[in-house]
Amino acid sequence: PRVWLTRRDGSQEPVDARTGRSLMLNIRKPGQIQAICGGCASCGTCHVYIAEDWVERLPPIQPEEETILALSDWREPNSRLSCQIKVTDDLDGLCVTVAPED
Ligand code: FES
Repeated sequence: PRVWLTRRDGSQEPVDARTGRSLMLNIRKPGQIQAICGGCASCGTCHVYIAEDWVERLPPIQPEEETILALSDWREPNSRLSCQIKVTDDLDGLCVTVAPED
């Protein structure tokens, strides 16, 4: 599936994502995401915003993810930790924006 990535500087890039891996692993490099904890929902550095029309189509936020998102100064209703989203073919066309650094 192809994911449309917007970086912090506003530049955009389509990313051909691999299914079965997290969204974070797919966009880490092109999105210049630190992902310090390696994907275990504890660092918050993989914070992204999901395009409005996609929010409801993703699996719901789990308690651990919510705890970390709540610590961010940049939390928005469409915030997610990209490490907690597994890429599937259904996500073709997903638009994500890397959140500002805390
Ligand atoms: Fe650390 Fe996602 S990579 S919370």
